[in-house]
Amino acid sequence: MSDPAPPSLIDLRVEGAIGYLRLNRPDKLNALTAEMVGDLHHRCYEIERRDDIRVVILSGEGKAFCAGGDIEAWSDESPEAFGRHWVRDGHAAFDALARLRQPLIAVLDGHALGGGLELAACADYRIAESHIKIGQPETGLGIIPGWSGTQRAVRRFGAQNVRQMAVMGVVFTAEQALGKGIVDRVVEQGQAMAAAQAVAQQVIARGPRATELTKMAVNAAEGEETERVIEAFVGSIAAASPELAEGLAAFRAKRKPDFS
Ligand code: COA
Repeated sequence: MSDPAPPSLIDLRVEGAIGYLRLNRPDKLNALTAEMVGDLHHRCYEIERRDDIRVVILSGEGKAFCAGGDIEAWSDESPEAFGRHWVRDGHAAFDALARLRQPLIAVLDGHALGGGLELAACADYRIAESHIKIGQPETGLGIIPGWSGTQRAVRRFGAQNVRQMAVMGVVFTAEQALGKGIVDRVVEQGQAMAAAQAVAQQVIARGPRATELTKMAVNAAEGEETERVIEAFVGSIAAASPELAEGLAAFRAKRKPDFS
């Protein structure tokens, strides 16, 4: 008998209408490897297609939410591969996460640093426990915050806050991050998951389609995914028109469509 497949380091579990997306590499503080980034992207694809998932809670197993990109993994990359794969693959996965049609709540029950903060930036709502630290330490390692830490993070957290963290190396406490709008709420240690579940239930009680469309519209207003949102909205309207039925019927009957 062959060995069972190794467990994925990005879990997805569905309970009720909540999808629980969890980084599961606690011994390395959930530092993200290239494989984990790929798994994250696949999980996003799966979540998008599952109508039983109405809201997603993102968390990290163990004492950290996520300590960033795996330093050992990226430091071995050639400069070309770093830009071509490490950065671009991270963008693809994080974009998919930020653009999920379902609302995403991040449970920051441990530090969110570097890529961990870029990951948290993808969420629609961030709940931090009071003991955690938030920062962008990359320049201290001689690298840049390359998974949208100078782009989406600026849009969502504000340029001055990113300057403080990424350029000056300032590390914020949860309370400071709350004051700056980087997190939406601070709770006592051990309370973030329960708080996230309560917010998730609030989301589930709302109109599902209206919630999805509203999230897309807000993303478009923010410049997160304008082109895709416009074509998704316009495409839905066109697909609901009788013109499509006639166009398809004509195609199948090998005749000219009659749109009169
Ligand atoms: N990449 C790879 N491994 C990491 C990591 C990262 N970003 N962050 C932590 N780890 C590993 C540590 O090497 C250690 O592994 P080991 O037990 O095999 O030695 C393990 O995770 C636990 O980390 P440790 O440093 O012992 O925990 P700590 O509680 O003393 O410190 C931090 C926690 C987050 C302050 C510290 O781990 C840290 O500064 N990490 C790097 C954060 C960073 O610079 N992120 C940006 C990366 S681009």
